[in-house]
Amino acid sequence: MLTIAISKGRIYREALPLLDAAGIRPNDDPDTSRKLLLDTNLADVRLLVLRARDVPTFVEHGAADAGIAGKDVLLEHGGGGLYEPLDLGIARCRMVVAARRGCESLPRRPRVATKYVVSTRRYFAQKSVQAEIIELYGSMELAPLVGLADCIVDLVDTGGTLAANDLVEVGDVCPISSRLVVNRASMKMKHERMKAFIDSLADAVSNVSAQGAGRARAS
Ligand code: ATP
Ligand code: PRP
Repeated sequence: MLTIAISKGRIYREALPLLDAAGIRPNDDPDTSRKLLLDTNLADVRLLVLRARDVPTFVEHGAADAGIAGKDVLLEHGGGGLYEPLDLGIARCRMVVAARRGCESLPRRPRVATKYVVSTRRYFAQKSVQAEIIELYGSMELAPLVGLADCIVDLVDTGGTLAANDLVEVGDVCPISSRLVVNRASMKMKHERMKAFIDSLADAVSNVSAQGAGRARAS
């Protein structure tokens, strides 16, 4: 049995065509079903539907053999006990520092609101800036607007959320995409099955990027 951990919503939606190309089709849709353990068309593959941040934990402890998680989540988790064999190129965005428009120059010791504590600490330490980190679980954009923080570290895709809250980018932390992660013991114990799974996903990823490049050339 191959158990794959995945979060519903954005990652599930974007991973579905890749899983399909790898021959894996879930029997239920987590966006409409309350089931958290999904059987698939393959008798030896099942999906666990988790909160995004819990995916590496389930994989690290071997409750899932593999999982799909954003690099943002993996950087916070720390990566112990996991292989990260494949960048799936889905759920792409950037992790950035943002501040209120007109307040772009930060104080010497900025207060930074974020749910990405590890990445934020590393980013400011590399710049030799002593930041006070205020950990939040969401709606980071509010923090500078109500005086809780001087800036935030959050994910940006279209920039719509920052613009809607009168925030602007003042620093670039890193690019983000979702990765396949694999439990180290599963990689050894289920080597043949795991290798076939990773290879088929890798093929699906390169077909998608070849199609994307073709579309870009045609337009
Ligand atoms: P939860 O809903 O459990 O609190 P979450 O809000 O981080 O977690 P999603 O919004 O589904 O869950 O995001 C999952 C992953 O998708 C993130 O970890 C990140 O890698 C990526 N992501 C987040 N926001 C965006 C975005 N605006 N555009 C593209 N990818 C994103
Ligand atoms: C993410 C992120 C930003 C937003 C950025 O939130 O936390 O708020 O996307 O995307 P944009 O640049 O395209 O506006 P998400 O939509 O996942 O909501 P959540 O954090 O409340 O889950």
